[in-house]
Amino acid sequence: MQYQKILDTIKSETLARPITGKVATYIPELAKIDPDKFGMHLYCINSGHYGFGNESERFSIQSISKVFSLTLAMSLLDDELFERVDVEPSGDPFNSLIQLEYENGIPRNPFINAGALVIADILVSILENPQQEFLDFIHKITGNTTININQKVFDSEKKYSHRNAALLNLMKSFGNIKNDIETVLDLYIYQCSIEMSCKELATAFMIYANAGNTLSDDIEVITSRKTKRINAIMQTCGFYDEAGEFSFRVGLPGKSGVGGGIAAIHPGQYAVTVWSPPLNPKGNSELGMYALERLTTLTGFSIF
Ligand code: DON
Repeated sequence: MQYQKILDTIKSETLARPITGKVATYIPELAKIDPDKFGMHLYCINSGHYGFGNESERFSIQSISKVFSLTLAMSLLDDELFERVDVEPSGDPFNSLIQLEYENGIPRNPFINAGALVIADILVSILENPQQEFLDFIHKITGNTTININQKVFDSEKKYSHRNAALLNLMKSFGNIKNDIETVLDLYIYQCSIEMSCKELATAFMIYANAGNTLSDDIEVITSRKTKRINAIMQTCGFYDEAGEFSFRVGLPGKSGVGGGIAAIHPGQYAVTVWSPPLNPKGNSELGMYALERLTTLTGFSIF
């Protein structure tokens, strides 16, 4: 497969499209990002790295971090974790409070904000130093110890985190948050404010394409059974109320973030990441979705 040629075609096709999306502004620091940034990286199990554009520039991973926090929690716990968070698509926006009220404080899945906050609470209960150990986990799966948070993004989100605080308070009223709300909120904002490049994210996501093992040094991060489950949740819930659309158009398990990143995988084949900050109304990268749709169309294979 001529992957670099396909990526070059995707680049020119994508850049020729008009952008109607808008960069996220509810976290003021994210509003400062150049909307023209555009990078893509493809990391194939059999043939290595391909990419273009701003593939090596770090950006705010935001909700993509929810896949890593779930992975860390699942590596430490077994099925009891899913007594506190379900695995059903929500069909609602990522920061919605509505279902929580009538579903007794049990979030629909670990990728909406409510679910990721429960996962953060679980990590706060288990880990001695949750923020550092979360970062150590990212270092382990990427083999790169220079990855860190952006403090300005952390401070900016912390200042405007009323909705996530509301989710935590509501869940605490149902007994589904065990720790101090500020501590849990801080871990969640910390994980979201980590910055990684497309290339680094594709390396991290390789574990989901490679049955739970890093490719470079073959470390088992998580079992293949649990990897199957994480990929299934990405497929059904990775794009909130646009998970069906992403499956329909792209046909890969993946996860988006309001920093404009998307990471996706083809089991046994590759990890792919794309970054373009303007978001569609559902909070997913507009050009990112298009670029990935072209990848699975031009290569002729997705998981379907
Ligand atoms: O909690 C928030 O609103 C952000 N830190 C993350 C949201 C996000 O990335 C949603 N993804 N598309």
